[in-house]
Order: sequence, then structure tokens, then C-alpha cells
Amino acid sequence: MGSFSSWFSQRFSISGKDVQETFNEPLPGHMRHWWFCLGGAPMYLFFIQLITGILLCFYYETSATKAYESVRYITENVSFGWYIRNTHKWGATLMVAAVILHQIRVFFTGAYRKPRELNWIIGMLLLTCTLMLGFTGYSLVYEQLSYWGVTVSANITESIPIIGPTLKNFMLGGEQYNEYTLSRFFIIHAAILPVAVCLLVAIHIGIARIQGISNLQFKRPTPEDEKPFNLIPDHLYTELIVGLVIMVIITVLATVFPAPLGPKADPTTTPEVIKPEWFFFTMYRWLKLFSRTTALLSSGAIILIMFAWPFIDASIRKRTRFKEASVWIGIFVVFCIVFLTMWEALVEH
Ligand code: HEM
Repeated sequence: MGSFSSWFSQRFSISGKDVQETFNEPLPGHMRHWWFCLGGAPMYLFFIQLITGILLCFYYETSATKAYESVRYITENVSFGWYIRNTHKWGATLMVAAVILHQIRVFFTGAYRKPRELNWIIGMLLLTCTLMLGFTGYSLVYEQLSYWGVTVSANITESIPIIGPTLKNFMLGGEQYNEYTLSRFFIIHAAILPVAVCLLVAIHIGIARIQGISNLQFKRPTPEDEKPFNLIPDHLYTELIVGLVIMVIITVLATVFPAPLGPKADPTTTPEVIKPEWFFFTMYRWLKLFSRTTALLSSGAIILIMFAWPFIDASIRKRTRFKEASVWIGIFVVFCIVFLTMWEALVEH
């Protein structure tokens, strides 16, 4: 062992101190608070999703005739299959929640303002990819709800003016759910989106490192806030503790609330109640409140406003005296999202 380590260090002589010097950067003191570590949480969860997703792929089969049975086999027969599947399922839920919490912290601390507009847009792309990962993953189980969820979403997509029918065709690989649909969802879920997330996260964190973390804008910094501290090892320790807490939470959730396996998809029987995953409840309720075209066009407009928010906010701040209008708008939007989500969760139709 000793000779191996001396052989290795002669060729690759890098010490812990070198690593610290290369990657270290001073962080503003307020980053000591745990809620400023929420950017690391989605990254950690994405890593868990990659590992558990690869393990699930060892047994998952993509065809409509075998997908459901393979998920049952993983849950009931494969050693620790139930744990891997439930960790993946709960990891997905927590990843969506972590991305939303991180976005809320970025929003309410005004961290998207000049010069960080581009990183906000990349963050929005990451949010889109995360939600699409949730949607495509949900569809792979080939339960009644996943099958009908895809069918309903495809019909909604078809109603988007101009591009709707082409999008639906691309989504299903044909006019209707067919033998190519599941493999298309699988490729998007297990290859295209993970690669896109890896690239986007690398750019996102690269930009965050180059620009540095924003200072708090809404409160006068305390002397403690003003004292910078080290990324390595101080911030890394906090991130590791956040990671450990997440792992414990996932394990408890996976053990106490395992993901159920509903009835197998039956294309001839529409279930009485079709519900998407909780993170689409707001959009689903919105679609039920208005005519399809109005709901889709307004949803498109809202998404566009979210992408362009740093520029809209800058214009409000420049042209009006409501410098912190974003805080009230943010509170109103969070309230609407919580309200619509609860509404959809509590009623059957
Ligand atoms: C997979 C999803 C995401 C990951 C892994 C991620 C990761 C990170 C990390 C590690 C940082 C460094 C600071 C911190 O820890 O807070 C950061 C900063 C930032 N993120 Fe994200 N993020 C994600 C999604 C988002 C979303 C959805 C948005 C907003 C639409 C966003 C906007 C920003 C902005 C503007 C910064 C700079 C913050 C500052 O300078 O204070 N990110 N992100």
C-alpha cells in the first residue's frame, strides 16, 4: 500500500491544501444560514436520482407489455429494489421541492438582478427540465394513472395554437399512445433530460462562481454577515450536513410511505379521477378554471413572464417608485400557487 501511494503521489502529487487553494473562494457571511444552501440541495438530489435511476434501469423494461411487470418485479423481488424505487420516487418529489425553494430564496433576495439575469434564465431552464423529469418518470410505470396522464396531457398539448398537433405527435410518436410512446418517454427521461441538467448545472454553477454570490439587498448586514468565510471546508460542511439530512428524510419517507403500485394501464377504461403529480396541480386546476385556449395562452404568458422576470423587475424599478414591488408580487404568486395546489388536492374533480 505504502509503495503504491508513493508511486501514485510521484505521478499525481496533489494534496488537500492544493485542492483547497484551487477551489476555494470567500463567500459572503450570510451564506452561513442554511437556507442559502438550498442551491446545493437540488444538486445533491439530482445525484441521488442519477444513481438510483441507473440501478432501476438494470431491471426496468421499456415496452408497454413488460414495463408494469418489471416495476412490480423491482419492488417485490429484486434485493433492495423497493428501497431503490422508493428513494427514486421520493428523491424526485424532494428535488422538485428543493428547486422551488431555491428559486423562492433567489427571488425574495433579489439575487436575479443585474448582473445575474442570465443565471435566472438558466435556472428557469433547470426548473423546466426538473418538472419534465417528474412528468416523464411518472409515465414510465405504465399504471392506469400514468397512461391516462400521458393521454390527457397529449390532448391538452394538441390544443396549443399552431404548434400543438406537431408537439403531440412528437410526444407520443404518433397520433395516439402507441408502442413507441413508452420508449420515447424513456429516452427523454433517462438520457436527454439528465444530460441537459448536467450541462445546465455546470453552466449555472460556473456563472455563480464567476459572478460570486449576491449580497443581501433587503436588510442591513450584521457584522457577522459582513465577515466572509471559506467555501472549503466551511460551506462544504454545511452542504454535507444538508445532504445527510436529506438522505435521512428520503430513507424515512421511502420506508414509511412506500410508493404504491396502482392498477396496470387499461387503454379501454378511463379512470374516474385523473390526477397528475402534485407539482402540476396548479396548472391542472388552472386548465379546469378557464376554456382550454384561454388557459393555455395565459399559462404560456405566465411562463414567459417568469423567464423575463429580471428584465420586467428592472423596468418596474426604473420607471416607477415601487422599488420592491417584486416582494408583494412574489407573495401574491406563492399564495396563488399554494391555494390552487390545495384546491386541486382536496377536490376529486
Ligand atoms: C437543478 C436545479 C438547480 C440547481 C442544482 C441550482 C444550483 C445552484 C447553486 C449551487 C447556486 C450557488 C448559490 C446557492 O447555493 O444558492 C445557485 C445560484 C443561483 N441560482 Fe440556482 N440551481 C437550480 C435551479 C435554479 C432555478 C430554478 C433558479 C431560478 C429560476 C435559479 C437561479 C439562481 C440564481 C439567480 C443564482 C445566483 C444566486 C446568488 O448569486 O445569490 N437556480 N444555484
